[in-house]
Amino acid sequence: MPCRTYHAGKLTHMTISNIKDLFTHNRAWAEQMEHERPGFFTSLIKQQTPKFMWIGCSDSRVPANQITGLEPGEVFVHRNVGNIVVHSDLNTLSAIQYAVEMLKVEHIMVVGHYGCGGVMAALGNVRVGLADNWIRHIQDVRNRHRPLLDAMPEAQRADALVELNVIEQAVNVCVSTVMTDAWAKGQNVKVHGWAFSVHDGLLQDLKMTVDSTASIEPLYRAAIDSVIDSRKPR
Ligand code: CO
Repeated sequence: MPCRTYHAGKLTHMTISNIKDLFTHNRAWAEQMEHERPGFFTSLIKQQTPKFMWIGCSDSRVPANQITGLEPGEVFVHRNVGNIVVHSDLNTLSAIQYAVEMLKVEHIMVVGHYGCGGVMAALGNVRVGLADNWIRHIQDVRNRHRPLLDAMPEAQRADALVELNVIEQAVNVCVSTVMTDAWAKGQNVKVHGWAFSVHDGLLQDLKMTVDSTASIEPLYRAAIDSVIDSRKPR
């Protein structure tokens, strides 16, 4: 993998081959940031005030900051295999609670990506080991929408399931006690569903932007319909 390193005052590319390179890269990055933006790190010490929370897949090809051009301090990130939000997962829920109640983020985006290994394993019943139990949550999504998935061309099903999974996990964020309480208090925070294309680096808005408990249901229906309609033979 190519990486950037500080060399003679300029960033150039090199290949990372061992752990030592990561420290070399880190020192170069810190040096460059301080050079370009004197005081950058000292201003970060004071506090983080991100407006965005990103809930994405752990996949190494989907890094929240790089994709959105956001800097340290600008996006609060939670990632797991398959960008899954489980009602009882204290890890994800704690991150959401901290983001909403302490940091007062204004946007939470659930971001899936095409070609997701977790989604493909779920779709094809591929056994990968312990993670099968986690991926089971994506299979629940597949099973819920099975008639719709079965009705579309086979080549489209994986991408469709990526989108359906985002929509379902976004709903799981919306119905959490954290979001229910935040919206009941009139807090300004929206939940979005997005999908990322590894092949061109672009984000797609799945038109699932929820800003109140009352709007979950109609937006959910419309978003699901849109996934299906976009794949109808014309
Ligand atoms: Co993935």
